[in-house]
Amino acid sequence: MARDRQLDPVGRVEELRAALRHHNELYYQKDAPEIPDSEYDAMLRELIQIENDHPDLLTPDSPSQTVGSSATTTFAPVEHRIPMMSLDNAFDEEELQAWVGRVHKGVGNATDIKVVAELKIDGLAVSIRYEKGKLVQAATRGDGRVGEDVTANVKTISVIPSSLKNAPEVLEVRGEVYMPISAFHALNAIEQEAGRKTFANPRNTAAGSLRQKNAAVTAERQLSFWSYQLGEIVGGPELTTQHQVFDYLRSLGFPVNPASVVLDHVDDIITHSESWQQQRHSLDYEIDGVVFKVDELSLQQQLGSTARAPRWAIAYKFPPEERTTKLLAIEVSIGRTGRATPYARLEPVVVAGSTVEFATLHNEDQVEAKDVRVGDTVIVRKAGDVIPEVVGPVLSERPKGLRKWKFPANCPDCGQKLFRPENEVDHRCLNTSCPARVSGTIEHFASRGAMDIEGLGEQRVKLFCQEGLLRDVGDIYSLDPEKLVKFDKLGDLSVRNLLESIEKSKSRPLANVLVGLNIRHVGGTVAATLASSFGHLDNLEIATEEQVSAIEGIGPIIAASVVEWFSQEENRSVVQKLRAAGVNFAGPEKSDAPQTLAGMSIVVTGALEGFTRDEIESLIVAHGGKSPSSVSKKTTALVVGGDERSSKRTKAEELGIPILSEQDLLKVIETGTL
Ligand code: IVH
Repeated sequence: MARDRQLDPVGRVEELRAALRHHNELYYQKDAPEIPDSEYDAMLRELIQIENDHPDLLTPDSPSQTVGSSATTTFAPVEHRIPMMSLDNAFDEEELQAWVGRVHKGVGNATDIKVVAELKIDGLAVSIRYEKGKLVQAATRGDGRVGEDVTANVKTISVIPSSLKNAPEVLEVRGEVYMPISAFHALNAIEQEAGRKTFANPRNTAAGSLRQKNAAVTAERQLSFWSYQLGEIVGGPELTTQHQVFDYLRSLGFPVNPASVVLDHVDDIITHSESWQQQRHSLDYEIDGVVFKVDELSLQQQLGSTARAPRWAIAYKFPPEERTTKLLAIEVSIGRTGRATPYARLEPVVVAGSTVEFATLHNEDQVEAKDVRVGDTVIVRKAGDVIPEVVGPVLSERPKGLRKWKFPANCPDCGQKLFRPENEVDHRCLNTSCPARVSGTIEHFASRGAMDIEGLGEQRVKLFCQEGLLRDVGDIYSLDPEKLVKFDKLGDLSVRNLLESIEKSKSRPLANVLVGLNIRHVGGTVAATLASSFGHLDNLEIATEEQVSAIEGIGPIIAASVVEWFSQEENRSVVQKLRAAGVNFAGPEKSDAPQTLAGMSIVVTGALEGFTRDEIESLIVAHGGKSPSSVSKKTTALVVGGDERSSKRTKAEELGIPILSEQDLLKVIETGTL
């Protein structure tokens, strides 16, 4: 990697920018990040480093120069009259010192520079506008220039005043909306009770709660707010320092974090950072660092800003937390596919604000590579501050005589032999009636990506299986309300809701039914292809391997797996139960557009001008074509958006597959000929 980077900074810059844009969208628009902040920060730092080394590569739209992510179309756009900037980060003492150095240099005198220290609240920034003392508008940060109108949602946050006494003509108050940790746990307890999926962490829950179409949902979520900055202000008092801003905000009735303090010497920021790193979990809200701002507003002016962030402020970001604890046992859990996953049972330890007792160890090879042994002291951290992970053993603390861990020979749930196929990393339990597999399969059938049966989560499925009410997914549709009410906690209302969502699930699209059946290798894309190609589950049920593998996008392994699944007696009985219950088996309606692309398989890569990826794929399918995600011998043509040089293009060129532009494709759709 490092070599490639030196050889090809252009390629690496492109790669980093694409990844950062993708993760920006996940974080800011979908409230569902896939990587830890620390990983994101590392990519951003690498990008900035390369751009510093190669200034000619710097472009104004690089993620190093922009803030957040552009607004979605769900909310009306709000243009910020004064941009909402981001903060530069420092990750260690050296980087903090470097900032101190830049500040000294920038203000050009040797006198002590006062700074305010604040907590870096892990929430989302909003700007709230008051005109003549009335709250008239609230907006998210968005890309810093244009945010989203969340006025109705912000009005439901009780600590934010809706009107102000003695207010200036115009006042914009900026700060962080967050969810207290206690409110987050209370909300998750309710979600769990109702059998719904729980939320991952307070930050994403706060962002998701604020950005609700229906503000009544926001109102239920117990959001809170800390104010820390002013935006536009017309007719207000003369303020000369950042700490006067806090006093002013407080006097108007805004919550100002009590930990915001003035430090007399800019050099004090190191000890201040360390002290908060120690105490970060003493609070009822999450912080991910400490923010320092030069106190004198005139000095702030003098230091100015880059396109992205002020030079007068810096955020010290805490490193991901690691803790050590005892490894009590290594156990194995069996998933719905029979996959046996080893996991660590740990002496409970608090990591990044919550207690960790279990952590996955993935598979036999991972345990071997980490060489963790029962009885070891191990290092634990949270990946993405969410998923606990065992980093490795502390070898200096290993007691004498600890033995290497051996993968158990038998399934912990049904006792049958576990099997590790050659060339695979996972062990499997092959017994399809293994209780762990059965409840896992039912849970999967009811999950969001499949039949989305609200109220039928892990706990209830396990309970119903234990009580003999459920033996397979077919039994869901004949659950007896009288038996259900007998369970504690399952009142009439809850039973009625459950039955209602079961009823609703009967009309889910065929692709969802196929996903729910838990056929190996059949995920969302394959299921959608099968549903549209076969048109009905009855056709798929009797299809031969040749017929299934003849379909574009379906290889021989998938075809074999599908046919084998339908050949099993117990699976056919499940299908029969679903059929009898009236579950939808019909595939998507064929479109009445001319079937000009019938028999063609068209792969799309790169960004198109006139269509999103989903739009172009739907258009191809509506005209009778297929649009799988990868190029193969069966591909008719590859459509390339922009001047994309992708691996798909290389592969298409190797296979001699025609390459089309967006315009070419539109012609093919019209004429039906390449
Ligand atoms: S000041 C021009 N102060 O951190 C200065 N930001 O990484 C703008 N944040 O977008 C921000 N706590 O969402 C400031 N005490 C604090 C903060 C804070 C959290 C967030 C804010 C900002 C992000 C930048």
